[in-house]
Amino acid sequence: MIVAANWKMNKTLSEAQAYLTELKSALAPSPTAQALFFPPAVFLPCFQKELQGTPIFFGAQNCHFEASGAFTGEMSVPMLKDFGISTVLIGHSERRHIFSETDAMLAKKVSAVLKAGLSPLLCVGENEDERVFGKTLDRITHQLEQGLSLVETPESIVIAYEPVWAIGTGKVASAKDIWRVHQFIRDWLVQKWGDSGLAVPLLYGGSLTAQNCKEIAAIENVNGFLIGGASLKVSSYLEIFQSV
Ligand code: PGA
Repeated sequence: MIVAANWKMNKTLSEAQAYLTELKSALAPSPTAQALFFPPAVFLPCFQKELQGTPIFFGAQNCHFEASGAFTGEMSVPMLKDFGISTVLIGHSERRHIFSETDAMLAKKVSAVLKAGLSPLLCVGENEDERVFGKTLDRITHQLEQGLSLVETPESIVIAYEPVWAIGTGKVASAKDIWRVHQFIRDWLVQKWGDSGLAVPLLYGGSLTAQNCKEIAAIENVNGFLIGGASLKVSSYLEIFQSV
């Protein structure tokens, strides 16, 4: 199980530092769960320093697809890699909807991350309208086809299913819906890549809490979580981590 925390644009450096101090003293390494954090990129030097020699992994929330060039305000994968990251989050719904990132851009980002020898965590998920009109699986298919269009083998890919309507809303997808979508993604991966598709971790995200995580963790093909709000306090992150 991968227990991933997406801090989004939260915390100051001193708050991040205090969080890591508390986390390191309280987190007992687990043979079955991997802790993974996505802080704002400006905290990566702090994460690198604080987490050296610990079993806690960390990554970036975004990247540019080019290695360098005239892209004001952007960060390339080789730059991020220097800080010891393992993973880059690609296509989070906030990147897609607030920052208008397209599937074509995301495919290039996935490819850039793989080229650097890192792991892309691609987020997919339907919005409220698509759900209501029964278009969930069409949307997921489209996002997988496009986002993974430049990928040859799925070895270091991770996928997160995050229904857009469940992110930060307190609404959680039902166990049946999560099961159905995760099974669909698994079948899609196996159809494309055969047995290698079986090893791709599939995470669920969207209003995940210490209260609902146990039920969701027990669903077939749920191999971890992507947690936003509930990861901002060490105590609630740890409760989730320990429950799996
Ligand atoms: P949430 O966010 O847990 O606050 O709903 C999840 C995410 O955006 O990854």
